[in-house]
Amino acid sequence: MSLKNDLLLKALRGEHVERPPVWMMRQAGRYLPDYIKLRKKYDFFTRVQTPELACEITLQPVDQVGVDAAIIFSDILVIPQAMGMTVLMEEGKGPLLPETVKNKEDIEKLHTKDAEERLSYVMQALTLTKKELNNRVPLIGFAGAPWTLLCYMVEGKGSKSFDKAKQFCFTQPELAHQLLQKITDVTIQYLKAQVKAGVDTVQVFDSWSGMLSPEDFKTFAQPYLIQIADAVSADAPVILFPKGSWYALPELSNSSAAGLGIDWSLTPQMAREMTHNNITLQGNFDPSKLLAPIPEIKKAVRKMIDGFGTQRYIANLGHGILPNVPVDHAKAFVETVKEYSAVSNSVVS
Ligand code: CP3
Repeated sequence: MSLKNDLLLKALRGEHVERPPVWMMRQAGRYLPDYIKLRKKYDFFTRVQTPELACEITLQPVDQVGVDAAIIFSDILVIPQAMGMTVLMEEGKGPLLPETVKNKEDIEKLHTKDAEERLSYVMQALTLTKKELNNRVPLIGFAGAPWTLLCYMVEGKGSKSFDKAKQFCFTQPELAHQLLQKITDVTIQYLKAQVKAGVDTVQVFDSWSGMLSPEDFKTFAQPYLIQIADAVSADAPVILFPKGSWYALPELSNSSAAGLGIDWSLTPQMAREMTHNNITLQGNFDPSKLLAPIPEIKKAVRKMIDGFGTQRYIANLGHGILPNVPVDHAKAFVETVKEYSAVSNSVVS
């Protein structure tokens, strides 16, 4: 059965589209009143681990905001959890991993083989969601990038600088690479299993890659992103989102990734130049700008599309949607992309 709306997949394949597809990172959850109601009834990992709940939350932005793709409701921290670590989610505070990775022993005891089995609830949620979507829009699977997962596994929680994670890498680089490779192996299995369960494309979130200098990014982040893209690309198109690491765009545009996500620290024109116009770009609306008045949002969205062009482009935010964004403003973002007319903008001017 073919998809009724396959704009996202066309854009990733570099095929002609009548308008750019649009979705929003972290669109499932956070700001939607129906999600907030569910949050009062079930704790975070119950929502993630119950296929019916994960499916319901995944569909909310498709039904209520009109995005061109669904992203499965889950979390990047299900991987450390499946590898045997305790992961707690403190409502309103964020993740907490009480037993952090400190030494060789800690790394050796992490599971790699049965991780996929331990994540079977994700596959069940995907199968159910695929069925409920009924081919309306593509379904996006995802995982955290090895560097970003190392950050949480070593630091134990969110951080402004992730200095403990960096200290681990800078003082014990061999151990860091062992850990990064273990995460990479599990992530590849996991993403392949997601494709088997029905996802049409996958995104790898390297949310904290911008914490690294260009040189350290090349050592601790990039090789693992490329390994994942190389291993999974034959199964489904891969979008890499190395937030803050604009300096890596030229090299990553020559990888097997189908798309690159970018944040708002560079202009669309800069991103196009750095990637020689040869890859699909996704982004890069400042999520805080969704708090501006609607007419301002509309103007900024049109300007963003003018900058990227309508082809090989996926309209999105430059990072996750914020919890305090009014639903109307999220809708205005999506609708402005859908209304965008290339003729009245880029071609004529
Ligand atoms: O995109 C989607 O809507 C799918 C669902 C999704 C969640 N987390 C649900 C979630 C996705 C793609 C993620 C990825 C994720 N998780 C990332 C990478 C993306 C990014 O924004 O950088 C990161 C770094 C995490 C780790 C994480 N999970 C943090 C730091 C937090 C707490 C702060 C927050 O709200 O983001 C979470 C919890 C979490 N994951 C929530 C949701 C909806 C909020 C918790 C709640 O609503 O109770």
